[in-house]
Amino acid sequence: MRMPLCVGNWKMFGTLAEARPLATGVRDGLRRAKDVEVVLCPPFTALAAVGEILAGSPLVLGAQNCHPEASGAHTGEIAPPMLTELGCRYVILGHSERRREMGEPDELINRKVRSALAQGLTPILCVGETAEERRQGLTFTTVEGQLRAGLAEVGAEAIAGVVLAYEPVWAIGTGANATPAQAGEVHGYLRGLLSELASKDIAGSIRILYGGSVKPENVELLAAEPEIDGSLVGGASLSAQGFVTIVKKTARAGAVRGN
Ligand code: PGA
Repeated sequence: MRMPLCVGNWKMFGTLAEARPLATGVRDGLRRAKDVEVVLCPPFTALAAVGEILAGSPLVLGAQNCHPEASGAHTGEIAPPMLTELGCRYVILGHSERRREMGEPDELINRKVRSALAQGLTPILCVGETAEERRQGLTFTTVEGQLRAGLAEVGAEAIAGVVLAYEPVWAIGTGANATPAQAGEVHGYLRGLLSELASKDIAGSIRILYGGSVKPENVELLAAEPEIDGSLVGGASLSAQGFVTIVKKTARAGAVRGN
C-alpha cells in the first residue's frame, strides 16, 4: 500500500503576512487527518516561518527548488543543506515552470535529484508533456525522456527514495485537468519504466502524484484512480479550506482503495 501524498506548491505566492495564516489554517484544518501525508512548499523566504507553524504537527515542510551543489559561489542560489537545516524533507525538482522559464535542462535536474538524495531530501521529480507534444502523440516519449534523464545514474535503491509527479503542462494553472484515465495511463507507463530502472518491488512502492488544476471539485475522481497516489497542487493550495478539502478527499479515496 502506498501512502497517499498531497503537496501544496505555493509557487511565488506568499509574503510572510500571507504565508503565516495559510499555513496555520492548513495545519489546524488537518489536525485529525490520517492515512495521508501532507507537504507544504512555500517560497524560500517563508520556509522558516512556516516550519515553526508546522512544528509538532504531522505536516511536513518542502522547498520548490535547490541548487545541485552543497555550497559555492552561486549568487542567489539555495543549497540542499540550507533546506534541511530549516526542516525541509522534500524538494520539488524539474517543475515545468522552471524547465520553461529558467531553461533548466534534464542534465541539471538530474544533478539536483542526485544531490537532494545525497543530502537527505526527497526529490519530487516532475515530468509532463506540452499540449503540442500530446497532439503529436509524443506524450510517452516526452515523459520517458524526462524520467530516464532525471534518474540517470541514480541507483536502484536510491530510486526508492524519489516521488514522481506527472504534470501535463497543458493542465497547469489552466483549469483543465487531465482526466483520471489520461493520468492513469501515463502513471502506469511511468511505473513500468521504474520497474525497468529499479525493480518491480521498488516501482510498486513509489508514489506517483498527479498535478495540473487539481481542485476540491475534481480530486475525488482523480484520487480514486488506482495509479494516482496523490496530488501536487498549485493554485488550489493557496486556500487553506480548499487544500484541506483536497487532502481529506484524497485520504478517503486512499482508504477506499486500500480496502
Ligand atoms: P495548478 O499547478 O494546480 O495551479 O495547476 C500545479 C503545479 O504546477 O504544480
